[in-house]
Amino acid sequence: LPVPPMSIRFDQGAGTLSPEGPTLTRRMSDLEGLFRDSEAWAAAVADGDPIVYSVVSSPVPEIDRELPQSITTIQPGTTAGELWMTKGHQHPNHQGEIYLCISGHGGLLMFDGTETRWVDMTPGTIGYMPPGWAHRSINVGDEPYSFLAVYPGGAGHDYGWVLEHGMGQRVLAGADGLDFVNYVEG
Ligand code: PA5
Ligand code: NI
Repeated sequence: LPVPPMSIRFDQGAGTLSPEGPTLTRRMSDLEGLFRDSEAWAAAVADGDPIVYSVVSSPVPEIDRELPQSITTIQPGTTAGELWMTKGHQHPNHQGEIYLCISGHGGLLMFDGTETRWVDMTPGTIGYMPPGWAHRSINVGDEPYSFLAVYPGGAGHDYGWVLEHGMGQRVLAGADGLDFVNYVEG
């Protein structure tokens, strides 16, 4: 159903949108096959299966010509040194997208099947994903990382693409900053 012109408020403390659409909570168990160390992943699932990130959406529907938005909040943490992250996806029809960092410190990892790009995200940074670049967000700080996403309503989410192709690089917490390692070799 179409929605009327509207304003939408984000309550940062509560992490809610008003009016709101669907909310998604992703726990460690939802990230199967994504961390480099699958034993450490399984141990984290067994040890309380923590919430890794949540996504609150506006009521704008995910259909062609609409321009939905959502706010993702990734908790700080690591699993065997790999910084907590979103699943990551490709848009099946290769539409572009933007993210605006609201709070915390994160990064936007993009992969077109050949090259990997990294955009450091601090409050006020807009990260642009051109058509055809799969994208994953990573919390590189020690507080929750929140960003607004604005995307074409027909963009969709192809998670299988990332399981098949990876993201080119992984991001680990190093002794003096981030360590980028190749995806396959780990
Ligand atoms: O539209 C987007 O790209 C974001 O809203 C993501 O869906 C969100 O950050 C969660 O990531 P993922 O869909 O990869 O689990
Ligand atoms: Ni997307």
